[in-house]
Amino acid sequence: MNATQTEAETCTTRHRALLGDARDAALPDGSVDLVVTSPPYPMVEMWDGPFRGMSPAVARALDAEDGPAAFEAMHQELDRVWQRCAAALRPGGFLCVNIGDAVRTIGGQFALYPNHARIHSGARAAGLTALPDVLWRKPTNAPNKFMGSGMLPAGAYVTYEHEYILIFRKGDKRAFSGKARALRQRSAYFWEERNRWFSDLWEGLPGTPQRLPHAAARARSAAFPFALPYRLICMYSAQGDTVWDPFLGTGTTTLAAAAAGRHSVGTEHSAAMLEVVGATLSRLPQVGLYSVRRRLAEHRRFVAERLALGKPVKHHNPLYRFPVVTRQETRLLLPWPVELTEADGGWAVTHLLDPRDPGGGDPDERQLSLLDP
Ligand SMILES: C[S@@+](CC[C@H](N)C(=O)[O-])C[C@H]1O[C@@H](n2cnc3c(N)ncnc32)[C@H](O)[C@@H]1O
Repeated sequence: MNATQTEAETCTTRHRALLGDARDAALPDGSVDLVVTSPPYPMVEMWDGPFRGMSPAVARALDAEDGPAAFEAMHQELDRVWQRCAAALRPGGFLCVNIGDAVRTIGGQFALYPNHARIHSGARAAGLTALPDVLWRKPTNAPNKFMGSGMLPAGAYVTYEHEYILIFRKGDKRAFSGKARALRQRSAYFWEERNRWFSDLWEGLPGTPQRLPHAAARARSAAFPFALPYRLICMYSAQGDTVWDPFLGTGTTTLAAAAAGRHSVGTEHSAAMLEVVGATLSRLPQVGLYSVRRRLAEHRRFVAERLALGKPVKHHNPLYRFPVVTRQETRLLLPWPVELTEADGGWAVTHLLDPRDPGGGDPDERQLSLLDP
């Protein structure tokens, strides 16, 4: 910083990763603004072990090769988590669940197990309101992706290459006043981001190759890509809010919350997995910097292309000194995480609230790939 520059404002967010069972998570009622999570997927074999551990009814049904009974018993355990989410959320808070349906042969019967539909029932029974959801198109590279009788009718099955992001709200729309209103305005997203993010079909989110330090954790991680929780956090919470991931895994939600200037708490029942969270979060300075730079660079490119087409960009964001399409974007300010420290058994992150471009211009492909290593 040179002598003519003024000291930038900063803020601090706090992040905790707790060892424990999501079904019994003791978060105070109303203490969370947003839940973003991806549970173990019922009827997907890699999660049979954890579900067996949660309930003897699951173990009995699997041993008896009774698919429908196992499916229902597994969801009854997840229902307890949706009830915890409903209690922990503040009025107007959101629950976003990434889930895939399962296809499986059990007891000689090949069938679809519609996890997304069953979670809908569970979350609604917990008192949450279902809102329009997102279909995440997630192409598979599996060599055996075509299932069934090949080129001969009528015994082949449709290839499943999508998952869901289910969205629920606790009660009515949240009201913002005073300081919360200012934070909400600072948390605006760009008009062109709104158009992409609030589409009911998400394509082109990269999957996450599993490059984790701990082999056991790697085998069981099923991490979602950084962009998934980051988007949801920007869409459904404001800076300074608290995000909870009851099934924290490798801590992708923690990283995304910290990159977006939100507080976070995560619960995870595997100690091995919890060990990975520190390593995930250590990427924050780079990931935070690149997400800010990418969003600013993409907006500048969008403005240039729109103006070149002779379309208006009527408003002005005086902080970044660039045009924006709507008045709602004129106070938008991206917090830039610059320092990560361990504090009180968790982490503290210092964010610069500085509209000066973090520098470095448009991040290149190699740098962007660090967002989803
Ligand atoms: C689909 S993974 C979540 C991956 C995570 N989104 C990420 O990006 O790494 C589900 C996680 O839930 C954890 N888990 C399973 N049962 C649990 C329970 N009852 N309470 C808390 N965590 C649990 C698993 O160990 C696993 O890490």
